[in-house]
Amino acid sequence: MRRIALATYDPGTEPGKDADLPELVRALRAAGAEAEARYWDDPDVDWGRYDLVVIRSTWDYSWRAEEFDTWVVRVGALTRLANPASVVRWNTDKRYLGELAAAGVPTVPTRYLAPGEPAELPADHEYVIKPTSGAGGRFAARYTPGEHDRAVAHLARMHAEGFTAMVQPYLTGIDVSGERALQFFGGRLLHASRKGAVLAPGTPYDADKVAHPGLERWQPTEAELAVAEKALASIPGVSGGPGPLYARVDLVDGPDGEPRLMELELVEPNLFLRLHPGSLERVTEAILAAAGDIAG
Ligand SMILES: Nc1ncnc2c1ncn2[C@@H]1O[C@H](COP(=O)(O)OP(=O)(O)O)[C@@H](O)[C@H]1O
Ligand SMILES: [Mg+2]
Repeated sequence: MRRIALATYDPGTEPGKDADLPELVRALRAAGAEAEARYWDDPDVDWGRYDLVVIRSTWDYSWRAEEFDTWVVRVGALTRLANPASVVRWNTDKRYLGELAAAGVPTVPTRYLAPGEPAELPADHEYVIKPTSGAGGRFAARYTPGEHDRAVAHLARMHAEGFTAMVQPYLTGIDVSGERALQFFGGRLLHASRKGAVLAPGTPYDADKVAHPGLERWQPTEAELAVAEKALASIPGVSGGPGPLYARVDLVDGPDGEPRLMELELVEPNLFLRLHPGSLERVTEAILAAAGDIAG
């Protein structure tokens, strides 16, 4: 019997937010596997006893980057980890966007401002400031050139906490055509979703945000699929070998109406299975296949 752990975060006294997780555990067990959800930071878990550890919803990791990185390396050495440690480590720092842009992937234009670097901010267009290690819109906000002082205060706070900032033009296309998430599993397109814009004008960077407003099913266009495939093919070390077990490609239209990569999520993507119930079987099969590669 294959042993599979699905790594998640400890929600404490709150109900867990990962709606995909109980469905997946149930489906894997129904398929004959020994499947368990485990908290990634639980010191009592013997990760080596599993044939496969799938990172599913370690959603508190971005504020505990070093601890998570240590965990990824440790578990990756003990057993098969999906996604592989090298892929996860590369993907936890959004400086990967610069690498993908250099590799020819159409990407949201991004500048990086590390602590100590001067706050050179756009004077002629609206822009976004956000951290290179983030999720759920945390520490993200948009500014007009007239809001320079607020933006500088935001940057100062991020730099004081050791974060490198990303500065991007605010892509107004998101207010028209939304943000599309193309989800891949087991090397193939699984399903796609679309959501509305997250950053309302004037919202403070430290306010809680609705991460997936107006989420709905989406049929990806040829142009979206082309950008997604180019991004996936550009993951370091991936050419020739098997791709990651799972990937989510987030796209927003640029000023010319063509899709640009906003984020390539290879760590802990929400799968939105509630919206796509038919995908559960494909996900289950792909996880079982990944576990079987070493189990026998
Ligand atoms: N350059 C941008 N233009 C328009 N909206 C943006 C931009 N950058 C971020 N956003 C908004 O902020 C949200 C969170 O940013 P994102 O880069 O996806 O970080 P994360 O999801 O990891 O927190 C996006 O879903 C989008 O709604
Ligand atoms: Mg995002």
